[in-house]
Amino acid sequence: MNERILIIDDEETLCYFLKESLDEKGYQAVTAHTAEEGLEVVTRQQIDLVLLDLKLPDGNGLDVLYEIRKADSDLPVIVLTGHAAVESAVQAMKLGAYDYLEKPINLAELSITAAKALESKAMRHEIQRLRSQQQDRDHQLIVGDNKQMRDIMRLIERVAPSKATVLIQGESGTGKEVVALALHRMSPRAKKGFVPINCAAIPDTLMETELFGYEAGAFTDARRQKLGLIEMADGGTLFLDEISTLKLELQAKLLRIFETGSVRRLGDIKDRHVDLRVVAATNQDLRQATKDRTFREDLYYRLSVVVIDIPPLRDRIEDVDKFAAAFIAEFNRTRATNIKGISEDALRLMRQYEWPGNVREVRNVIERAMILCDGDVINVGELPAEIVRTEPSMAFAANVVPIPPVSSGVDMKAMVAGIEKRMIEEALAQTQGNKSRAARLLGVSRDVLNYSIQKYGLQMDN
Ligand SMILES: Nc1ncnc2c1ncn2[C@@H]1O[C@H](COP(=O)(O)OP(=O)(O)OP(=O)(O)O)[C@@H](O)[C@H]1O
Ligand SMILES: [Mg+2]
Repeated sequence: MNERILIIDDEETLCYFLKESLDEKGYQAVTAHTAEEGLEVVTRQQIDLVLLDLKLPDGNGLDVLYEIRKADSDLPVIVLTGHAAVESAVQAMKLGAYDYLEKPINLAELSITAAKALESKAMRHEIQRLRSQQQDRDHQLIVGDNKQMRDIMRLIERVAPSKATVLIQGESGTGKEVVALALHRMSPRAKKGFVPINCAAIPDTLMETELFGYEAGAFTDARRQKLGLIEMADGGTLFLDEISTLKLELQAKLLRIFETGSVRRLGDIKDRHVDLRVVAATNQDLRQATKDRTFREDLYYRLSVVVIDIPPLRDRIEDVDKFAAAFIAEFNRTRATNIKGISEDALRLMRQYEWPGNVREVRNVIERAMILCDGDVINVGELPAEIVRTEPSMAFAANVVPIPPVSSGVDMKAMVAGIEKRMIEEALAQTQGNKSRAARLLGVSRDVLNYSIQKYGLQMDN
């Protein structure tokens, strides 16, 4: 489709002349001779670029420019000025004009400037499209939709646009970093950096230089200047992970930075302003740490303006199915495999497991299972021993039920069948012969129960 260019100029011959030349270049030019007419076209038609004369019979071009920018801030405007009207050209640029051309118009120059303006508009659109696509993906980044996670999602959406400091608490592997990243990506700071600092991983001796950076010559080894992580997060989000491990001395320094909004490199004499959004995470109880005097109370209050508590996976175990599916999809994508899913038996075991490593452990378990898996569905055999062991009845059988003596001539199948038969009789007795309830009690389907009743020739009263 041809790009449409609107020419607003009261000189009809010039309009005609420009239109001819632009049409020839493959654009579709339309003309307007007054401010009113021009604005009308902009609001009614799909226009990709405006050429605007600054002197119009019914008004000042600058006002028209202002109105156009207000109506469609994305529409590029190239201003046409009379000779020696530099001042209004400068003003037009301040008002957001893309560029200006001096009359008499040089056609070659016009064609280059127009092409550039249209290209930059197309590029901005593309960036916007990619960004909103990324945002959609970020929304999906957080898997899980039990009640607590939905509340957390709503909270993220609510606080992301603000600059409020957020403290994320939760056991290891619950998704604290996932939430921190979502907060950043959904904030107006998304274009700038998300700078994670793992307070536990950086040695104490390096912490200050890493955080604050230094000037050349600050100390013997400082040959060149180094930018600190805090300055790198300027305009973006500073993510302080495992904040509870931060030494008291550094806690004081950080607090000062948050309070003054400025940081001083080591060996520097002046403070530099930084615009930070701070998100901190901890798997320790920070409030308790303040009572134990290992964490400054004032810093704690500063950090905990908004608190997000991420529950352990065992408290939202209904989401384990979704995590399994999401990780299977993820690994299928990154490894080009084609695993269809996970068997109901394997899922049942996963729902019974405690998951001390939370979501990260699910991810690892799925990754391992997909490597071991021969078919296209993950089965119990591919789950690690600690999960299979959690089958309560298995554990019960292993620890509590005395096993018949094992010696030569023992008939295991008959023994097990004998136990099976007695358990069915017991279940039927407890449920007054109600087969559906008995089946549920035994954890088998009605069909399996019916089959066994026939097999063992059990008498049913009703
Ligand atoms: N809600 C979620 N949706 C999708 N993936 C998740 C979710 N929660 C956690 N994960 C995944 O689980 C793993 C661990 O998450 P993350 O690193 O955010 O945990 P953490 O709470 O920061 O753990 P730690 O305290 O050990 O640093 C990552 O691979 C992450 O992608
Ligand atoms: Mg983490």
